Amino acid sequence: MEDHQTLESFLSEESLKRCIQALTEAAEEISSLLRKGAGLLGLSSVNTFGDQQLQIDVLADQVIEKALQKSGVVESICSEERSKERPCGGTGFAVAYDPLDGSSIIDTNFAVGTIFGILKGGSFIGHRGREWTAAGCFVYGPRTELTLAVADEEYAHQFICIPQDSKDATVLGRWKRNRVFKTIESGKLFAPGNLRSTVDNSGYQKLVNYWMSNKYQLRYTGGMVPDVNQLLIKGKGVFCNPASISSPAKLRLLFECIPLAFLIEKAGGRSSNGNISLLDIPVNETEERCQVCYGAKEEVERFDAMVGQMF
Ligand code: AHG
Ligand code: MN
Ligand code: MN
Ligand code: MN
Repeated sequence: MEDHQTLESFLSEESLKRCIQALTEAAEEISSLLRKGAGLLGLSSVNTFGDQQLQIDVLADQVIEKALQKSGVVESICSEERSKERPCGGTGFAVAYDPLDGSSIIDTNFAVGTIFGILKGGSFIGHRGREWTAAGCFVYGPRTELTLAVADEEYAHQFICIPQDSKDATVLGRWKRNRVFKTIESGKLFAPGNLRSTVDNSGYQKLVNYWMSNKYQLRYTGGMVPDVNQLLIKGKGVFCNPASISSPAKLRLLFECIPLAFLIEKAGGRSSNGNISLLDIPVNETEERCQVCYGAKEEVERFDAMVGQMF
């Protein structure tokens, strides 16, 4: 357990504080909607990525948009559900987000999340993750948690939402720091996404064989937020989601891959697309998808050597 510093006192810069406060308010609402069974309400439509949207995907998207509009410090937004950048009524930041990561595991009652990235200015286009101001994810599990990394602060930080009966003015005061993530070491824990791509990605098949013959422990839910977040919490291991011709990359560079890379690298881990750090890839369009690997230095180097960028 850490020092229980509040999120409010952790954040010093006023406009970033307003932006993150808006996100925590939205996350508290999304978490309460999920607890009421909102995710079980059925289908809505199809988004620009071709994903079947649940009503809760659309609802969470709107909850976050509304909160960011109210903050007055957000110039533009875009999300997995509405991927074109558009004005958000304020000035200061561009915010990109995946409102609900893990739609397909809502019915199984696994942990799901919200992923976000924040950049000073009006657009993400042409910018690399290394230039971002902050990024993080909310986890909706038995607890509601925020894992946050800020460019001007060392390390990644976990805050836990401790709801209080009265809704007082200091919303961020409800979020208490529980852990600081400083290092991800090599360790025998693997979370292998898109395993179906081993059929025509022989490098990935070799890597899976390596993990199995070295008796790695499998820990994979199919939700990127809990699956990547566990590397921080356990302080070891590897997560990947490689691609092949028959099973192309699924994860979205702007809405999923770069924000979690920002967290992992702040926590002393590495990220890669099989060749370079995900923080060194400029965003050319908001709809790009990407192959990813996160984890300890040696684990990511092994991924680059064995899987690389074949596709
Ligand atoms: P989303 O629910 O935001 O559309 O994305 C889910 C992602 C990610 O959470 C997970 O790692 C990946 O999809 C799993 O994909 P498959 O179920 O296709 O393996
Ligand atoms: Mn989706
Ligand atoms: Mn997602
Ligand atoms: Mn989503």
